[in-house]
Amino acid sequence: MIDLDMVTVVKHPLVQHKLTLLRDENTGVKDFRQLAAEISTLMAYEAMRDLELENVTVKTPITTSEFPVLSGKKLALIAILRAGLIMADAIVQLIPAAKVGHIGLYRDPETLKPVEYYVKLPQDISERRVFVLDPMLATGGSAIDAIRTLQARGAQNIKLMSILAAPEGIRAVEEACPDVDIVVAAIDSHLNDHGYIVPGLGDAGDRIYGTK
Ligand code: URA
Repeated sequence: MIDLDMVTVVKHPLVQHKLTLLRDENTGVKDFRQLAAEISTLMAYEAMRDLELENVTVKTPITTSEFPVLSGKKLALIAILRAGLIMADAIVQLIPAAKVGHIGLYRDPETLKPVEYYVKLPQDISERRVFVLDPMLATGGSAIDAIRTLQARGAQNIKLMSILAAPEGIRAVEEACPDVDIVVAAIDSHLNDHGYIVPGLGDAGDRIYGTK
């Protein structure tokens, strides 16, 4: 069972429309990139709905009054390499002051243990609200490994953003990381024998970078 309290599905018609175009195998690299970036930006709007505000005093041409600005913890966007880069690049346009970290992981085929081949994070990660970005939440393995890497470095306030998820991946993250909220644009049917999300959109990295 998926605990839907931990998952936000961004059902906005614009997101759903763009996601359908993203899934289409006839969508080429240029459009795929643009759609993935647009969906990420729209998802960020929802994922950041609970950012704290504080009032500041502003003098308009008419009068002086109090108005809200973002307060509280600063943000960190963490791209899981390589497909997460497209999400980070899009969201940083919306929040130019956010710091961006990168995590590259693979599973050792013999030990099946995660091997970090690249980890570069903001030094003050423990003081930031962290958004982990991976377009495809399939088995959940990479997301869980990335979240553990972040937690080991002190990150506490973590949200995972994925464009598409399989129920298997959501269940795995919920079980392994119960304090991490998940934001997705859709939850698909299942994973196939090769670990692809069905119906899905294929290999996100290959489609973003044209490497198929
Ligand atoms: N990663 C992808 O890029 N696509 C899937 O369907 C599953 C994992």
